[in-house]
Amino acid sequence: MKQISSYPPLVFAGEARNLQASLAQVSAGNAFLLQAGDCAESFEEFSAVNIREKLRVILQMAVVLTYSLGVPVVKVGRIAGQFAKPRSSDFETIGDLVLPSFRGHIVNGSAPTAAARIPDPERLVQAYHQSASTLNLVRAFTKGGFADLNRVHAWTQEFVASSPEGRKYEQLAAEIDRALRFMRACGVDTESNSRLHEVDVFTSHEALLLGYEESLTRQDSLTGTWYDCSAHMLWIGERTRQLDGAHVEFLRGVGNPIGCKVGPTTTPEFVLELCQALNPAQIPGRLTLISRMGADLVEDRLRPILRAVRDSGQPVVWACDPMHANTYTASGGRKTRDFDEICSEIGGFVRAHTAEGTWPGGIHVELTGDDVTECVGGADKILDSQLDDRYETVCDPRLNGRQSLDLAFRLADLIRTNGLA
Ligand code: TRP
Ligand code: MN
Repeated sequence: MKQISSYPPLVFAGEARNLQASLAQVSAGNAFLLQAGDCAESFEEFSAVNIREKLRVILQMAVVLTYSLGVPVVKVGRIAGQFAKPRSSDFETIGDLVLPSFRGHIVNGSAPTAAARIPDPERLVQAYHQSASTLNLVRAFTKGGFADLNRVHAWTQEFVASSPEGRKYEQLAAEIDRALRFMRACGVDTESNSRLHEVDVFTSHEALLLGYEESLTRQDSLTGTWYDCSAHMLWIGERTRQLDGAHVEFLRGVGNPIGCKVGPTTTPEFVLELCQALNPAQIPGRLTLISRMGADLVEDRLRPILRAVRDSGQPVVWACDPMHANTYTASGGRKTRDFDEICSEIGGFVRAHTAEGTWPGGIHVELTGDDVTECVGGADKILDSQLDDRYETVCDPRLNGRQSLDLAFRLADLIRTNGLA
């Protein structure tokens, strides 16, 4: 940690302020938040292809949402720092071995051996360097032409192109082409307008290891405010959001936009205290509440919370994490999530907001650009029995490229059919 504290920050405070300003637009109902990426980044799966494919699916989802909802989409990756995992149990049983739990590559190894599970502080340094080069490539791709709106067709991966979601996407891409041609025909200079060729993709991760976060926390020379420069946005997990806990105490002191997960046991009273602790000045865009209630509970549990926060005047961003409360173990022993349940939680989330007159501002999902088989269901109907085919996650099951794109279309439909866009 001492070593890292002398290293350059990964992000600049001004960028975190820009993200906060964009999130303020989300809290006011004028924009949408797409927060997506790996459950846990991996030291082993670290390559340009891996980063590019993740970015590609995020851009595809963003373009679907931007076009369908007609509002800007704020793009935030679970990327370039999402390494630490909170675990419900200190030990896990693999076969007849009882091993210390895997806590993310920033702490220990995932291999099922006692040696791999020993925490190694060198991993903190490696996580820093991997975050730096991941962020470097994200910046290169997003500013260097990869994200150009003239390339919407080129973002389709082969395995997606042949699917129903792929065809729907191709149609939308053709409409965007037409719209761009129309603007050019009207005399708009689309060449020189960088907004059409570049995007901002911000970084985020769960601020779990406070020592690591603290060693990257720096005082901004422009404003004197402290920023956690390990990422643009940090969030507090469901397991560490105690009001008198260290995570709330740490994050309330930094200027970054922050998130907090809100699970099914959360009461409206607790959420009000949390808002008071994390955003006493009621700054729009400062606080994102990420609900993860489970498909069955979301409508009932969320509505009283929405009402209480709305009536308190807190300008929060409401995001839906439809993944974490819908995890179960499939018959073959794999941890999985059902695509229909994921969509159903988003449906309940949107209906709850419609009923309370609040804006369902965003989604927070775990995905990969690859053709993995980790979540069951979806248009290609991945079955329990297929989970072993390509189960590659180092932690929770992620949506694959097709499921992610399908999710974006369904989400856009849900928001429109509820009359919200
Ligand atoms: N810069 C705009 C935006 O980020 C438009 C844009 C350019 C865009 N490339 C994109 C939108 C790729 C979504 C995906 O919204
Ligand atoms: Mn996860």
